[in-house]
Order: sequence, then structure tokens, then C-alpha cells
Amino acid sequence: MKRDIYCGEVRKEHVGKDLTLTGWVSRRRDLGSLIFVELRDRSGSVQIIFNPQTNEEAHRIAKALRPEFVACVKGRVVEREEATVNRNHPTGEIEIVASSLQILNESKTPPFPVEDEVQVSDDVRLKYRYLDLRRPKMQRNLFLRHKAILAARKFLDSQGFVEIETSMLTRSTPEGARDYLVPSRVNPGKFYALPQSPQLFKQLLMVSGFDRYMQIVKCFRDEDLRAERQPEFTQIDLEMSFVERSDVIAVMEPLVREIFSSAGISVPIPFPQLTYDDAMDRYGSDKPDLRYSCEIHDVTEWAQTTEFRIFQQAEKVKGLVATGCGRYSRKEIDQLEAKAKEFGAAGLIWAKKTGDAIQSSILKAVGEEKMNELWSQMQAGDQDLVLLVAGPRMSANTVLGQLRTHLARQEKWYTKDDFRFAWIIDFPLFEFDKEENRYVACHHPFTSPMPDSIPLLDTEPGKAKAQAYDVVCNGYEIGGGSIRIHSADVQSKVFDTLKISREEAKEKFGFLLDALQYGAPPHGGIAFGMDRIAMLLAGEESIREVIAFPKTSSAQCLMTDSPSTVSKRQLEDLHIRLIDD
Ligand code: AMO
Repeated sequence: MKRDIYCGEVRKEHVGKDLTLTGWVSRRRDLGSLIFVELRDRSGSVQIIFNPQTNEEAHRIAKALRPEFVACVKGRVVEREEATVNRNHPTGEIEIVASSLQILNESKTPPFPVEDEVQVSDDVRLKYRYLDLRRPKMQRNLFLRHKAILAARKFLDSQGFVEIETSMLTRSTPEGARDYLVPSRVNPGKFYALPQSPQLFKQLLMVSGFDRYMQIVKCFRDEDLRAERQPEFTQIDLEMSFVERSDVIAVMEPLVREIFSSAGISVPIPFPQLTYDDAMDRYGSDKPDLRYSCEIHDVTEWAQTTEFRIFQQAEKVKGLVATGCGRYSRKEIDQLEAKAKEFGAAGLIWAKKTGDAIQSSILKAVGEEKMNELWSQMQAGDQDLVLLVAGPRMSANTVLGQLRTHLARQEKWYTKDDFRFAWIIDFPLFEFDKEENRYVACHHPFTSPMPDSIPLLDTEPGKAKAQAYDVVCNGYEIGGGSIRIHSADVQSKVFDTLKISREEAKEKFGFLLDALQYGAPPHGGIAFGMDRIAMLLAGEESIREVIAFPKTSSAQCLMTDSPSTVSKRQLEDLHIRLIDD
């Protein structure tokens, strides 16, 4: 049973050697006299031939082999005949003539074939995840993830970061999502919270003088799930002392380069930097996909020179040029308008050219001359479609931003192997929460304001900017961080603006506020979403494809059937009574 080599690693140089291989049967073709079996393990697969002339016993046993049986084969490596060579397969130049076969275990017929292209629902894949993970693609994804994490650890170690594990049973951290709570048996009526991030601990480690901390860490957030969001996910979490934003950026860019290079992707640094305002105005998103241009234009001045009533009333009129989409039929344009409405627009104005004549939903109201003016102002071509949205600045931006992404996907304006990074900087410090009728922190309440924004905390908090930064890649936020507040005074001021009372602050984060009074160094950091990075490296569209045991969109694990009910006894131990009881 002791293997000499992995199946996928046998090559021409092994010809003539007798090797022992172990693995799973991925295919079996019985031609009567000869039986061909593809034996697979984590490295790939190799073809085995069972020939009764070579070994009758092995040939007899091979008749019983079925997909996913576990086998141990001994045999001689031979060169394939030229006609049967498969140069697209790593082991396609050789095959193994079996001299013995041992069936180590049988398998029930799997619910789907263990191969890359499977026509099966995600639910079935997740229920039988251990078989799904046997598929070559999933094995590749998890190896890629391993390599990326290894590259991150190695690089950060070389830069003097120390990995320190922080508590999993802790207090609620204010990252903005709901907490997963864990009842305490020995403290009736009290609960731990699983960390939404190690934010407060890493700041405390800076107070403790570790200077550079890192941790590859599980975080837990009870929030609505999407393709790039799981309730349990992994961060590469970092913190540094005596730094400003530029220092953090200077260490993080080579980190990202190293991680991507582990998957053979070269990433040019430095990354461009865009302010939040610029990103919103030009791309309608704080995580713009920069693989294609299609920037948003501000045509408010032009719009106000027209007679069109909607334009007169709007704060902003903004638009984009959908390259090559002038061919869209009315039906296709109607579909775009429906999308725009889904994204929150009251309506979508369009214009295109047929020959020299402009066609537009507002041609009558605006006139041909004005439309031609718009056409040249937006530098639209004859084959293009112009789309306009009128309304408040941010809502016009975000509608067009989402249309931009929608069109890019529909028109295939990008490829998966192109990676465009950027820093988004100068985020607002607060946003106004209408429901709660108070300001809330855009990042978290420990984010330092820009020095020149501190006076605004008393006067116009909505205009204050934060020393926060995100790294974005291809339309995803892959990391976010900030320079923290290290002065107890500024921290109190921020709590005041957030209407967090002294008592509440003391109750929730008293330990941090205390620590800030014992010589906290200036510090800042960032956390990268490891799952999102692995997803990009693997060319996948969901982080589920790079997580071994993910949850469904309703936060369930179909394999272990969790969350599950628990016994009355367990609940009693935890001093918990269910409402329905
Ligand atoms: P933030 O909340 O921005 O910052 O999270 C950092 C990064 O983690 C990833 N991420 C997620 N990935 C998968 N599923 C989720 N539910 C999920 N939520 C977040 C994103 C994001 O950019 N403590 C701060 C970091 C800091 O200030 O240093 C924090 O957690 O890629």
C-alpha cells in the first residue's frame, strides 16, 4: 500500500520502472481482453492497463472496479503508442501495465460524477461536499488557497510581523453586522460573541508593544449572504505601530503582489489611488472594476441649457457611453431601463444614432442640436448608446455604476485573467442613519478622522473624512483598514458624534479606552478578505468555490445539517428557554 509517487506525477522519465500507486477509480473501460482504468489522486490521474497476459489475477479483480473505488496498483510504466498519446494531459505520454491490484475500499455510486464539468445543483454538491472536493477543480482551488496563505505568511514574517491568535469567545465588536452569540453555561444569562474581526484585540496588541501583528483568522458575521459573503470567512488581519497611511500602503502592495504571484499572476505596483468621491463620481461605486473604462460623465451643465423639465429639477444629470451598444433594439433598451429602475432610478434616458440622425427618448423635448452637442461632449461614437440618469448626485452615480457593471458583464468588456487594483481613500468618517436618526461610523468607530476634519466633528460631521482605505480588485473590495484613533480625547469626541454615551462606551469598549490612556502608539492596519482573494486567483465567481465547507445563502451547512435543534437538556444547561416552548 505504500505509494511510490502520486498518479499525476508519472512521466516519460519513469518508463521501465515498476511503481506502486494508490487512488480512486475515475473511469473504467472494459474492452473484454483489456481493461483501462483512470486512477486519480490529488495530483491528477494516470491510465492503468489490465492485461490478462501480464497478470491474470489483477485483470480478474479489475473487472469489479467501479467509479470511486479505492485501489492500490503495482505496475510498469510504458510509453504509449504514438496514436494514443495525449499531449494535453500531463500523464498522456505514458501508461501503466498493472502487475497487481488490491481493492482497498468500495464506493456506492456517487450522486454525481467526480469530474470538473458536473450538471448538478449546488445543494447536492454541498450535501456531498467530500465528493465535490474530490473534483480536480476543487482540489486545484484549495491548493491555490493554501499557496496564497503560505505566501502571505512568508512575506509578512520577512517584514517582521508576528502572528498572534486572538480570542474567539469574546465581546461584540462593532463592525456593523449582527453577532453570532455563544451562551455561557457557567455565567447564566451571559453571552460571548464570536468576533466579527479581531479589531480591538489587534489595537490592544499595539498598546502592548508588538509593533507588527498579523493573523490569518476566522471572522463571523450574521449578515445577508451573497456570492462574496459568507457568515464565517477568513481575514489576513494586520496592524502596525508608528505608521501613517502611506506606510501601511507601502507594505501592503508587495504583500498583494506576493500573494498573486503564488498563483503565477504578476501584479504591478504601486496601485492607483482614487478618492471615495472620485470613485463614486466616475464609476458609481466605491469598489470600481477598472478593467474597462466606461466612466460616468457629469452633463448637468449641458442639461440645464435644455428646456427639459426633469433636467431643470434634478440636482445632477449624469450619463455614460455604452460602447458598441448603439445596435440595441428598443426591447433591449427597455430591458436596460427596467434594470435602471431596479437599481433605484426613476427612469433612464437614452440616445443612439442611425446614420447621422439621433434617436432618443428626449429628442422632442431637447431638440436635435442639443443632442448633437451632448454627443460630442460625451465623445460618443456612431455605434454607441448614450444613457442618462437625472436625480440626486449619489443616486444618479450608483444607478449608473450598477448599469456600468451590468453592461460590462453583458457585453464581455473584460477577461478573468486581467487584474486591476486600486486604493480607495478619503472615505467619509460618518454616514447619517435615518432610521436611528444619528450618525454611524462608515468603517468602525476607532477610525481616525483626517487631521483637518477634527474641527468638523463639532460642526458638520457629515463632511468629515476618515483616514480609511480599501483595496479593490475587479469590482470587489478585497481589503479595508484605517489609521486608528490613539488619543482618548479624539475617541471621546467621535463617540459623542455617534451619540454613544460615556456609559455605553465604557460598558462596551471600556477596556480599549482604558488602554488608550497607557501610552498607545499611533497605529493603523488593514484586513484582507482571504476568501475573496482566493476566488479571484481561482477565476471563480463565488467564494463558496474556494472554501472547503461553506454555508448556503440561508447560512446552512447542508452536509452536517447545521444549524440544528439541540436537546432540552443542553438548553437547560445554558439557561435558555425558546420562545415557542
Ligand atoms: P472589513 O469589515 O472591511 O474590515 O473587512 C475586511 C475584509 O474582509 C472581507 N469580508 C468578507 N469576506 C467574506 N465574507 C464576509 N461576510 C466578509 N466581510 C468582510 C472583505 C473586507 O474588505 N477590522 C476591519 C479591518 C481593519 O480596519 O483593519 C475589518 O474587519 O474583503
